[in-house]
Amino acid sequence: MPDNIAVRTIIRHGQVVNADGSLYADVLIEGSRIVEVAPHLDVPCDRAFDASGRLVIPGGIDAHTHLDLRLSEEVRTSDDFATGTVAAAIGGTTCVIDYATQAHGGTLAAALDDWHARAGGRAAIDYGFHMSICDLSGDAEREMAAMVERGVTSFKVFMAYPGRLMLEDADLARVMRRAADLGALVCMHAEDGHAIETLVAEARARGDLAPRAHARTRPPHLETVAVERAIALAEQTGARLLVVHVSAAESARAIGEARRRGVRVHGETCPQYLLLAEERYEEPGFGGAKYVMSPPLRAAAHGARLWDALAQDALSTVGTDHCPFWWKDKERGRDDFTRIPNGAPGIEHRMSLLFGAGVREGRLSVNQWVEVTSTAPARIFGLQPRKGRIAPCADADVVIWDPRTRRTIGAASHHMRVDYDIYEGLEVTGAPEAVFLRGELIVDEGEFVGRPGAGQFVPRACPGAAADRPPASLDGPPS
Ligand code: URP
Ligand code: ZN
Ligand code: ZN
Repeated sequence: MPDNIAVRTIIRHGQVVNADGSLYADVLIEGSRIVEVAPHLDVPCDRAFDASGRLVIPGGIDAHTHLDLRLSEEVRTSDDFATGTVAAAIGGTTCVIDYATQAHGGTLAAALDDWHARAGGRAAIDYGFHMSICDLSGDAEREMAAMVERGVTSFKVFMAYPGRLMLEDADLARVMRRAADLGALVCMHAEDGHAIETLVAEARARGDLAPRAHARTRPPHLETVAVERAIALAEQTGARLLVVHVSAAESARAIGEARRRGVRVHGETCPQYLLLAEERYEEPGFGGAKYVMSPPLRAAAHGARLWDALAQDALSTVGTDHCPFWWKDKERGRDDFTRIPNGAPGIEHRMSLLFGAGVREGRLSVNQWVEVTSTAPARIFGLQPRKGRIAPCADADVVIWDPRTRRTIGAASHHMRVDYDIYEGLEVTGAPEAVFLRGELIVDEGEFVGRPGAGQFVPRACPGAAADRPPASLDGPPS
């Protein structure tokens, strides 16, 4: 079919699930857009898909990835934009927002150009970028406006990793004030870097250098004090704030309370904090290294309360923090946990894990599942109205989801380019059967049939105050 003739595709008889409700309807796609959602559409089409017994949901949006992240000359994340986005697509994700990172002494413009070069022509799904700022000695503060003009409307800053990525409070406040002026979002890595450094020095003096020491030197209260400080700075500067990778129950509580007070703050958690617990660091040999990420895994009780916080809208989104390293690179820290590259894989499993442990086990409604995995990221990060909803005029990023498929997760069958899986052996129910990216079928019967390089950069807007609307209720049970 010539490119200039829009293909008409219909998905019939499915249960269309949006964050704000579900209905049995047909979805009509023309070219790259959804044009109609209504029961019993009787229109001529080029191709039809039967979604009887399946859910029809907006493509997942993973707003926290590290693809082709280069820690040093030798160590980089094992998934790049080509491999990682194929794994994401197979898992039902059609858009990622990846963290571009300023080099020390470098400009934001150079970092953004670099990330465009890493993703362009390789990504199989759509992508945007956040910009991590770690050096304000040059022109970075002024450059933030140019980033917004180029569609990068969120900036990550770190309260951890002193000497590498961390900014002191005065600099955090400068970035936040500038973001507030621009209407941009500040993504915060909230852990108290100085206090952690002291604990690491003490662990080192004791000779406590195994992976479990990573968790012991980053206790939950050092996350929560940083979250509280970040919220105070956001209130002071008027910045929109999203605390990334929230792992501790008390941090989620602090965010929920601030939201009740009307502070424009959101919290993101990740599947690993909902589903895995700190006992993993005790795995025999050096096995605990797989889970060395920051913040670390917590006691299981934290996970239970993070699920509640998601259901009650104290936490708003679930991203993966996909940051995979080859096992050989994890082994660099065999004698010293501080040398283990921080991060874990997960980009492929987010939708299934949240459906299985969330919807099937009664912790989230099916609409809340769509909210935290697609609609809320689209709203908060400025991707609406293109993404995050099955509705006329939206991009036809659509997943036909089979709620009955059962499978066991493992490195032998996953599609991420990494030689272990932190969810190895976990049985999950629910998987994508077909995935469409802007109307193009990219996953069929679980197989990737798309094109590397078909993903497009999606420039994002600065959303207005409606994106931060206070939740209707923070107390209600999942409905
Ligand atoms: O350990 C982690 N989370 N690595 C990725 C970088 C970050 O801080 O998000
Ligand atoms: Zn972080
Ligand atoms: Zn991250």
